[in-house]
Amino acid sequence: MEIKRSLNTKFAEIFGPKQTAQYFSPGRINLIGEHTDYNGGHVFPASITYGTQGVAASRKDNKVLVYSTNFEDDGVISFTLNELEYDKQAGWANYVKGMILKLKEAGYTFDHGFELLVEGTIPNGAGLSSSASLELLVGVVLEDLFDLAIDRLALVQTGKKVENEFIGVNSGIMDQFAIGFGEVDKAILLDTNTLKYEMVPVKLDGYAVVIMNTNKRRELADSKYNERRSECEEALKRLQTQLTIDALGDLDSETFEAHTDLINDDTLIRRARHAVTENQRTLEAKAELEKGNLAAFGKLLNASHYSLRHDYEVTGIELDTLVDAAQKQEGVLGARMTGAGFGGCAIALVKEENIPEFENNVYDAYLKVVGYAPEFYVAHIGNGTTKIDPDVATA
Ligand code: GLA
Repeated sequence: MEIKRSLNTKFAEIFGPKQTAQYFSPGRINLIGEHTDYNGGHVFPASITYGTQGVAASRKDNKVLVYSTNFEDDGVISFTLNELEYDKQAGWANYVKGMILKLKEAGYTFDHGFELLVEGTIPNGAGLSSSASLELLVGVVLEDLFDLAIDRLALVQTGKKVENEFIGVNSGIMDQFAIGFGEVDKAILLDTNTLKYEMVPVKLDGYAVVIMNTNKRRELADSKYNERRSECEEALKRLQTQLTIDALGDLDSETFEAHTDLINDDTLIRRARHAVTENQRTLEAKAELEKGNLAAFGKLLNASHYSLRHDYEVTGIELDTLVDAAQKQEGVLGARMTGAGFGGCAIALVKEENIPEFENNVYDAYLKVVGYAPEFYVAHIGNGTTKIDPDVATA
């Protein structure tokens, strides 16, 4: 990803001309393995070339000044290194505060302030992990400006801590992991129980992953995300009265179905069933992708959406309308919501030559039912968060 000269110019406009460094942090899509990462299951995400660009420079005092071109009305947000508490007024800058705080708690010292300009090319609240993208971006900026050598996994875990302990979303590790470890044209099969992972080449052979944005924004902190997590924990607790398991991800479908009476609650059974079956679908999907069996891979995407819609109940009219319309189009092998749900984005595996017609038809169907327009982007799988070599970063 190239940083445009214009972002440097913008930095100079806002903060004055300085010696700056540039960074890029991707967003992510999840191919399959949804709501499994806090259930000890597998996920299969990939980092995308849409993401967050950053330009930063050190300051001599202890002030941190941040500016986002996505939130121009907020102007420059400033705080000192002694003011790292969560502050609703600080909006997006809380992710910056959170990263500094959590790294401080881990023993790193920050003895001077800095300025940071960010520009996101992923829509906020669209389920493509704009927040994890920003967390990792800030992590890499801090690593660079303060000459820290932070293990990548530790940085990823710090991002998760910020979500869990600072922002208040009990999310799993998928987003930060995908963004921190992403590689061009590869998806990551991650076992969230052991954190063992495998980079899997994504060869789509004439097909592309089209991202479909419902344009229904949501903040996870206000969604039913935490409720779903608690429901899974309760189901697990009930199963553990007789089964020796650490997580729902330890179960196969047969064992699960033979023990649903232990859960004894229809809603909780459906939540747990999703976690168990989705984990299995994820492993199957990875195997099919490796074999180049895209049709079978696509069917698993469809089955994943069905389960998220009926058992996990995290879709809603917007995502269901998009996915239903997408699945009916010519040249489509499968479609499903991606990320947490409740709005945000879905993905579809579409034959390249069919993409224009696909977008037109799905657009019309969505507009008719939902009353406003969706957006489409073709996903390209790019690298994880990194400092950008200034020699390459030309306009
Ligand atoms: C959000 C969370 C992730 C994961 C997904 C659902 O993106 O941040 O940890 O739980 O939802 O798969």
